[in-house]
Amino acid sequence: MCGIVAYIGEKEAYPIIVEGLKRLEYRGYDSAGVSILNGKINTVKKKGKVLDLENVASSVDLEGNLGIGHTRWATHGKPDDLNAHPHHSDDDNLTLVHNGIIENYLSLKTFLTERGYNFKSETDTEVLVNFIQEVKNTEKVTLEEAVRRALQKVVGAYAIVVFDKSEPDKIVGARKSSPLVLGVGENEYFLASDASPIIKYTKKVVYLNDEEIVTVPRQGEFSIKTIDNESTTPTIHELDLKLDEIEKAGFDHFMLKEIFQQPFTIAESMRGRINADKGWVSVGGMRPYTNRFSKTDRIIMVACGTSWHAALIGEYLFEELARVKTEVEYASEFRYRNPILSEGDVVVALSQSGETADTLAALEIAKEKGCLLYGLVNVVGSSIARMTDCGSYIHAGPEIGVASTKAFTSQVTVLTLMALNMGYERGTISESEYHSLIYALSDIPAQVERVIAKNEQIKYIAGEIRSASNALYLGRGYNFPIALEGALKLKEISYIHAEGYPAAEMKHGPIALIDMYMPVIVIATNKSAYDKIVSNIQEVKARKGIVIAIVTEGDEKIKKMADYTIEIPDTLDPLTPLLSVIPLQLLAYHIAVMRGCNVDQPRNLAKSVTVE
Ligand code: G6P
Repeated sequence: MCGIVAYIGEKEAYPIIVEGLKRLEYRGYDSAGVSILNGKINTVKKKGKVLDLENVASSVDLEGNLGIGHTRWATHGKPDDLNAHPHHSDDDNLTLVHNGIIENYLSLKTFLTERGYNFKSETDTEVLVNFIQEVKNTEKVTLEEAVRRALQKVVGAYAIVVFDKSEPDKIVGARKSSPLVLGVGENEYFLASDASPIIKYTKKVVYLNDEEIVTVPRQGEFSIKTIDNESTTPTIHELDLKLDEIEKAGFDHFMLKEIFQQPFTIAESMRGRINADKGWVSVGGMRPYTNRFSKTDRIIMVACGTSWHAALIGEYLFEELARVKTEVEYASEFRYRNPILSEGDVVVALSQSGETADTLAALEIAKEKGCLLYGLVNVVGSSIARMTDCGSYIHAGPEIGVASTKAFTSQVTVLTLMALNMGYERGTISESEYHSLIYALSDIPAQVERVIAKNEQIKYIAGEIRSASNALYLGRGYNFPIALEGALKLKEISYIHAEGYPAAEMKHGPIALIDMYMPVIVIATNKSAYDKIVSNIQEVKARKGIVIAIVTEGDEKIKKMADYTIEIPDTLDPLTPLLSVIPLQLLAYHIAVMRGCNVDQPRNLAKSVTVE
């Protein structure tokens, strides 16, 4: 969480930093700040969004061509002006921004307090900047050396950028478990949490590795060292990202744009991996490990949030099509419970950002046990993409709305391809089923388009239930994870309490909540359990619940029972989630807009969760 932007070069730093912070606001948005070094240090910090910062910044002198900025998601200390970054050292020489958590900050703070340091904020970041200052003063070393020595004693996660008034021609950055990208321009450099603030100025980037420290001079070449003082030779990557991919393109919100992009993004995630005419599926990332995938007895999927819901669909797909035992784990639980792992296991990590701290930590554990690590990641060059043995990018393009939509459908698409690929290799799927699924899958983008065309009808239903305080989502089989995902979408952006349940479990608890005020969204497209779903709808209606049913086109039976129905095109059961999730995304979106919520930046959430 938290976004960092830094600039050193010949241009005015402030506009570049503020524009970059706006692009990174998805990482956190409870306060923001900028410091510019121009002989003296000018800092402005403000609780709230980057826009609030801009309002106060207009009256401050922020001229200069070296600066750092930050948009915060609070960990240590409440979100207010004082705790906002950047933070200065006690003697006002050093200025630092930080993303992550310094776990041993209390012992460092006690040490520094005994040495006479004063603290203005409650943050671990202010402890870190003072600790670097202490090392610099006592050991009489350069800024980069002080950073290196200080970080050797730091426990925790960090991406930092720091400058020093007494060494005014450089900035120093470092990372461990939180991302940091260096942009290499013409006579200018950028540092940022991701490439989006950089892309306008240069396509050349270096992704810093864990425990690397970069020294970026005003003129000349940058250099990278490890925390153990070894110089490294950086690889400069060419960014494959276009500016319009990170703009709203006429939509009111990023989330709506991303929902509407899904016919295209699902197709992108299949590109080169499926051929419906010739009837084959081939997932490049699996190819070098075909043997491992064919022989494995067990797949473990680790993920968080929406990615965890995609993984749950993966479990249904892998078990049904490839007949391989599949377990889905919350990364945060898996990492702390001493899981039983063996070398033959394949661990698949799903992550839109590729930076989620718990998912990364789960992978570390699996790596130690010799499992094969497979990454299903959206952000190219992210930490998970780099630390896994193999994997597939889902190619959904930048997802900026905090509530994940298009990344979810792309994850599910690639999981379907993987399960088909594996099922074919293992001989667990019949030729006819294999071909029917390939054929139906290649039709999904056009079918998603047809669901999106129902936007106005879904908006109308949203208007009918917008005032609800609770909502229940029910689904069976492949649609059970969609019930969870639908409920998550609603609660994260509209703040309506919502729960997803396997439809049959309703009678073991949630049925007690049903009354005439309770909207119950039932995903009722399963061919295999149709009659059972119909019974569940009757149970809800008998208790006067408001039923919104997602049904297959032409379903007249449920239409007669439900208060509202949304039809989706017919497809095979394993592919239904790719269609049934779309109306739930739109429903949540419209309800949130109608309730006046900030759809793209819901309260307390952040898109990239790089803390535990
Ligand atoms: C946060 C985001 C969610 C996301 C989850 C996992 O909670 O708000 O949208 O699903 O993190 O993120 P990942 O990047 O690992 O998929």
